[in-house]
Amino acid sequence: MGSFCLPFVRLLYTIVIILPCSFNTVICTDHETPSLLPPLIPELLNFSDQRLSLIYPIIQSFKNIITSDPLGITKTWVGADICKYKGFYCDKPPDNVTATALASIDFNGFQLSAPTLDGFIDQLPDLALFHANSNKFSGIISPKIANLKYLYELDISNNNFFGPFPLAVLTMNSLSFLDIRYNSFTGSVPPEIFEQTLDVLFLNNNNFIQKLPDNLGATPALYLTLANNKFIGPIPKSIGSASSTLVEALLLNNLLTGCIPYELGFLRDATVIDAGNNLLTGPLPCSLGCLDKIEQLNFAENFLYGRVPEVLCELGNLANLSLSNNYFTGAGIACRKLIKKGVLDIRNNCIHGLADQRSVEECALFFLTPKSCLRPETFSSIPCKAPPKSKRKSAPYSAAPKQRF
Ligand SMILES: *[C@@H]1O[C@H](CO)[C@@H](O)[C@H](O)[C@H]1NC(C)=O
Ligand SMILES: *[C@@H]1O[C@H](CO)[C@@H](O)[C@H](O)[C@H]1NC(C)=O
Ligand SMILES: *[C@@H]1O[C@H](CO)[C@@H](O)[C@H](O)[C@H]1NC(C)=O
Repeated sequence: MGSFCLPFVRLLYTIVIILPCSFNTVICTDHETPSLLPPLIPELLNFSDQRLSLIYPIIQSFKNIITSDPLGITKTWVGADICKYKGFYCDKPPDNVTATALASIDFNGFQLSAPTLDGFIDQLPDLALFHANSNKFSGIISPKIANLKYLYELDISNNNFFGPFPLAVLTMNSLSFLDIRYNSFTGSVPPEIFEQTLDVLFLNNNNFIQKLPDNLGATPALYLTLANNKFIGPIPKSIGSASSTLVEALLLNNLLTGCIPYELGFLRDATVIDAGNNLLTGPLPCSLGCLDKIEQLNFAENFLYGRVPEVLCELGNLANLSLSNNYFTGAGIACRKLIKKGVLDIRNNCIHGLADQRSVEECALFFLTPKSCLRPETFSSIPCKAPPKSKRKSAPYSAAPKQRF
């Protein structure tokens, strides 16, 4: 029985698994030695599975660094029945259907404070879900989380994490849900994240500062939220590649520039596209008339101009089209109907004869500087409709500024 002198963790195992150990005085003396290691396992704790006895000290040492627990959650984190601790859920792990493992942690709304998660989640090898929305966890995310081979949902939103984007997630092949919004992450988002097989990618309300990567549209995500950061540059035309998957694209409150790529109109499954409060310019591409499922479309507070395409206003599912605070100069019959219905908000533009528009002077000043978009011919094309037979030359949009009201 030489194995009794194995390091601490193995020793804990031994006590639990091999019954005679509990009666072995040699071990008991070992245990009485004061230790800096996590709280000792009371010798009679009877774990239902080895895997649970292994993570017990991990959980207890995390409990020890929690600085605030106003809801008294950690009071329940005692004893051998880890599966009954508040926030902890067990299940059969994929590699052994007769075992019991800690499969999921849901701390959402627990209001716990801790300076780090390092040494905690990265040491829970069977974890498949970690949800910790709305706590006060801080620190950087350890590269060691890459060890969590089953993790498919990581939600650490609305905490106080900082530092760079947690690059370790790029190596986590099971991950399908990544929510790191409402933290203080800085720097740039690695373009590889858009190649990863995620369904959900929420990066909003951080301090990411960078040009939107060209491969953005490679993402298979259904929900993509980049809002409230400092993303710059144009909306990549690759966004059209997400046509068979993207349902919601939230780009609002960034510093995006350039003209709207007509490929945005390829997103035939999109119900919400929000690019409000950026620095976008140019006209609205007619391809937006292909967004058959769109319900909410927001381009308010940009520098857009030209006529609002009638095909857009004719879309059957539109419930909210926000174009206020731009420089649009025209709206046709279908669009005016939407204004009446309260669906289209086009206040503070340059449309002659409509209520609540900018002053003539303000509009004149805006159109004083020459404006143009690359690929002007794409703005009149409607990819979902049959292409026009004759290739009539459409007026380039660089001519739009001359189109006065
Ligand atoms: C541990 O639990 C098992 C099953 O619940 C039980 O059969 C066994 O007697 C317990 N052992 C001790 C030492 O309490
Ligand atoms: C599966 O888990 C059970 C319960 O923990 C354990 O007794 C058994 O040895 C494990 N099987 C393998 C192949 O690891
Ligand atoms: C329409 O969308 C805009 C922009 O997202 C929002 O501010 C406004 O409240 C919405 N209007 C309605 C009636 O929901």
